[in-house]
Amino acid sequence: MMDVNEYPIVNKLIAAVKKPSWAFPLLLFTLVVILSLQITTDESGFPERPGSYPGIRSGSDTCDGSLPARALKMSIVEFGGVGDGVTSNTAAFVKAVKKMKGFEGKGGAQLNVPRGKWVTGSFNLTSNFTLFLEEGAVLMGSEDPKEWPIIEPLPSYGRGRERLGGRHISLIHGDGLTSVVITESSLCCNVVIKDMTILAPLNAPNTDGIDPDSCTNVCIEDCYIESGDDLVAVKSGWDQYGTSMARPSSNIIIRRVSGTTPTCSGVGIGSEMSGGISNILVENLHIRNSAAGIRIKTDKGRGGYIVNITITNITMEKVKVPLRFSRGADDHPDNRWDPKALPKIKGIFISNVVSFDTRKAPMLLGMEGAPFEGICMKNVSLFGLPATARWNCEHISGFVNGVLPAPCPLLQRNASVTCA
Ligand SMILES: *[C@@H]1O[C@H](CO)[C@@H](O)[C@H](O)[C@H]1NC(C)=O
Ligand SMILES: *[C@@H]1O[C@H](CO)[C@@H](O)[C@H](O)[C@H]1NC(C)=O
Ligand SMILES: *[C@@H]1O[C@H](CO)[C@@H](O)[C@H](O)[C@H]1NC(C)=O
Ligand SMILES: *[C@@H]1O[C@H](CO)[C@@H](O)[C@H](O)[C@H]1NC(C)=O
Ligand SMILES: *[C@@H]1O[C@H](CO)[C@@H](O)[C@H](O)[C@H]1NC(C)=O
Ligand SMILES: *[C@@H]1O[C@H](CO)[C@@H](O)[C@H](O)[C@H]1NC(C)=O
Repeated sequence: MMDVNEYPIVNKLIAAVKKPSWAFPLLLFTLVVILSLQITTDESGFPERPGSYPGIRSGSDTCDGSLPARALKMSIVEFGGVGDGVTSNTAAFVKAVKKMKGFEGKGGAQLNVPRGKWVTGSFNLTSNFTLFLEEGAVLMGSEDPKEWPIIEPLPSYGRGRERLGGRHISLIHGDGLTSVVITESSLCCNVVIKDMTILAPLNAPNTDGIDPDSCTNVCIEDCYIESGDDLVAVKSGWDQYGTSMARPSSNIIIRRVSGTTPTCSGVGIGSEMSGGISNILVENLHIRNSAAGIRIKTDKGRGGYIVNITITNITMEKVKVPLRFSRGADDHPDNRWDPKALPKIKGIFISNVVSFDTRKAPMLLGMEGAPFEGICMKNVSLFGLPATARWNCEHISGFVNGVLPAPCPLLQRNASVTCA
């Protein structure tokens, strides 16, 4: 199973179980990462599934700049790669990254992947490295379980996340990296994931699209993601293991991401957040046919904090619970977690949200003894709710302005709310 507990960056680009086999449901993954010149954009400016709309790309704020200059540039073909949709390229990628690792401290390296379908198992990234997918380049996850080795759990998690012991590695994996770019065009942040299409089977658990975990300066933009788990999940370690590692996630931009997750959320923050999560900007999302839109998750024993989260310009269609805060993930690495280690949640700024065909009113459940504070909402319209639907709030405080339908009394109406 592609575990969620990886850090720092490009945690998971995982995808499709083409032929689900109940005999190996956890192992047979086919990953399809499609580079994005194939992503078209509809009139609203959101990335769409390739081929669904003709259109132009747009968006003024962007992490675009120019690709970082790298001392070495080579093509995967030079390492024996074959982009025929059949041949395994795992060895070619491993060989290429090994060579490029030698350039980490010598000007960095860029690996070009030309047009074609490149079947591969997991491979690792290295620092000062650009994985450049040329137009029409598709990475497909191998269906051979042997290509997905089991690796040790992260120290910030203490054990395997979903089960004890090791975990299957992500398709593209990296620990402790600096300056990594995965894109067809460019960067200005330490890690940029741009213009990617990530398709995982909608019924495959633990297939988060992209998980920045204990990492800073990340820009995820213009991506289309379908998954059986969160499209993007920001995390930072689990209970006492995450607290002792103390590696926060901060300065993360998640922008112009669209997609579907029938069982999970568009953007999830937590529930593993023990190293702290701060300064996250989530904007211009388009989430459809999903269980939740924006979800903040935590639990007792986590410690840590989630502060200064800005969420703006979000469009949702057929999302069951558009906004959901929850306090009871109810899972711990072992029984040594500290029940007194309560997380601090403060400063969640939500504005310009519109949700159509909404099934349930927001559920905003803070924690007894550790209320979620500074929940600020402005211009939030949730359409389609049954007349009997009521916001469900506990242990939260904050202010609202221009929120429909009427929010819970714990959120006070206050015309001077600026959400800034
Ligand atoms: C990456 O490149 C920068 C700038 O040249 C350098 O300072 C840094 O040490 C390099 N990283 C590694 C891991 O070698
Ligand atoms: C990739 O990194 C993981 C640790 O993060 C390691 O266990 C694995 O052996 C590495 N794979 C290769 C091919 O170097
Ligand atoms: C809050 O986060 C935003 C990015 O979303 C950042 O620009 C701002 O400086 C942060 N505020 C504080 C007080 O750190
Ligand atoms: C919200 O999104 C729209 C369209 O993408 C853009 O024009 C506008 O500037 C955004 N507003 C803010 C406050 O970011
Ligand atoms: C309210 O939010 C909607 C949806 O993002 C946006 O279209 C509209 O312009 C916003 N209104 C104001 C006054 O900001
Ligand atoms: C309204 O909100 C502002 C800004 O958050 C705050 O300073 C002020 O005290 C609030 N007013 C009331 C009546 O709560």
